[in-house]
Amino acid sequence: MFYRCHVFFCTNQRPAGHPRGSCGRKDSERLRNYMKARAKELGLDDVRINSAGCLDRCELGPSVVIYPEGVWYQVRTTADVDEILDIHLQQGGRVSRLLMPEADAAETIATVTSGGDVASAAPEGTGGRR
Ligand code: FES
Repeated sequence: MFYRCHVFFCTNQRPAGHPRGSCGRKDSERLRNYMKARAKELGLDDVRINSAGCLDRCELGPSVVIYPEGVWYQVRTTADVDEILDIHLQQGGRVSRLLMPEADAAETIATVTSGGDVASAAPEGTGGRR
């Protein structure tokens, strides 16, 4: 089976006091497990929730990237997970408030807010890393 989307959830854990920190020390394993269970309950059989090693955005984590769109999120709570499942993975929108900073500039498609409104689209050609 080929999946429509892969969600990569960083669960890397570094020792306490590491200068970059790590997503694993910010509860990412529990959040990833929650997302996997909720995706199953919602019947999102075409979405794969993967654990990932370090995605190199440690300071902004817990880090999540969704492909094929290449959209990056910072996910701190189960409410954040629920919003991504609803707005991004079910409705095809973007959760503006959770986008990582570089992702804002890279977005060129309509953004859907948590209220379900189409909010904004970055101008084309703004570039930026996704
Ligand atoms: S530890 Fe999660 S992005 Fe590096």
